[in-house]
Amino acid sequence: MKISIVGAGYVGLIQGVGLAELGHEITLIDIDQDKVDLINKKVPPIHEQGLAEALKKVELKASTSYDSISKADVVFVCVGTPSREDGSINLDYVYSCAHSISENLDKYAVVCVKSTVLPGTTEKFGEILSESGRVFGLAHNPEFLREGTALNDFRNPDRVVVGQSDEKSGDIVARIYESFNCEKLRTSIRASEMIKYVANSFLATKISFANEVANMCENFGVDANEVWEGVALDNRINPKFLRHGAGFGGSCFPKDVKALIHASKSGGYDPLILNSVIETNELQPKRLIKLLKTLMPDVKGKKIGVLGLSFKPGTTDVREAVSLKVIDELLGEGAEVIAYDPSAMKEAKKLLGDKILFAQTLQEALERSDACLVVTEWEEIVEHDFSGFDKPLIDGRGVKKPNQSYRRIGKPF
Ligand code: UDX
Ligand code: UDX
Repeated sequence: MKISIVGAGYVGLIQGVGLAELGHEITLIDIDQDKVDLINKKVPPIHEQGLAEALKKVELKASTSYDSISKADVVFVCVGTPSREDGSINLDYVYSCAHSISENLDKYAVVCVKSTVLPGTTEKFGEILSESGRVFGLAHNPEFLREGTALNDFRNPDRVVVGQSDEKSGDIVARIYESFNCEKLRTSIRASEMIKYVANSFLATKISFANEVANMCENFGVDANEVWEGVALDNRINPKFLRHGAGFGGSCFPKDVKALIHASKSGGYDPLILNSVIETNELQPKRLIKLLKTLMPDVKGKKIGVLGLSFKPGTTDVREAVSLKVIDELLGEGAEVIAYDPSAMKEAKKLLGDKILFAQTLQEALERSDACLVVTEWEEIVEHDFSGFDKPLIDGRGVKKPNQSYRRIGKPF
């Protein structure tokens, strides 16, 4: 099929490469000329496992022009949907590209929103398209990709969800994924939009619940790891997304949960559980500092190592990373920060500039600091043998070989 994808960010690019691997003819459209040039030179603008090799192998075009839409069978909308200051979702990019798409629709095509949008948004998007008088199909098809393993997640999905305005639109979108051997669900457009929010909110809830349990365990004198081992053996509860620690970050969980809360409140229902999920998550990085103070009561003037800057391992992305909150707290207390990350130093430097120091290696961070905090579960960090490190080590992710002067979230001391 001929497919145009508007927005060549994380989701658009993975979708484009993945669909090109399935044999579809793909054009990526993006307003960012630099990104377009990189993609055409087969250089991935983002760090994602396997993406450089895959991009080299597939045929795929990128452009700043919307021309390809006139020939497309399906147009995917993958522009970003960032958070506003108040937590609400900013849909400006989604609606503005609706105008550009409708101006270029020449024949029947299905326009399928893939960006994470609140129930009702795709229908409103369809109303903008309708103003042009063009004939088109409308659908919503959420993505469930995790950064770091996005291409693999695209190739091996748990399920494909297609929200459709009518049977024909749904059939066309579903046909794109027909070679996938997984459950394929056809729903209303609003249900499809909501499925994405509920999936992310539930996963975020699991993490905040695990963190709450860990915090209680510390007080009860119980090791949370032992507790979860016993709890997660119940096959109704499984161990996934119950790793306690410093909290969740990234471009999706915080943004999506806040957007759902904000929209629900505006509609007259203030969700109790989801508010607590966010509140627990905001307090969690502070627990690392609290644990540090049990070993180093005054951090003022001390050099504190922050190990791990990206929001999770396997990515250079520092959006909403726990490391940023931890660094803010430390600087607020008058500490000096020396940070290390195996991949995300460049991204972090753009945000933090000269507010902190950066170590080139893990060893350098350990040597130059008076205490260290483990913030991201990079293998290099959690597998490191800290037994020879004789300063305070505060663990927010679960290091395998700790030292004598050690505190971990969820472990009594
Ligand atoms: C996506 C989804 O769209 C978002 O809703 C979901 O919650 C997470 O994944 P993502 O791919 O991570 O967003 O966003 P980003 O990497 O910022 O990429 C968006 C792209 O759209 C950028 O390359 C940007 O240049 C492009 N864009 C934005 C346009 O081409 N046109 C616009 O009008 C706005
Ligand atoms: C998430 C969803 O998993 C994905 O399906 C959706 O499409 C986008 O949002 P992503 O944000 O890339 O993916 O990363 P994920 O692996 O889900 O981790 C998010 C955050 O939660 C990270 O900061 C991670 O460290 C934290 N986390 C995850 C925990 O603290 N404990 C866990 O058990 C799992």
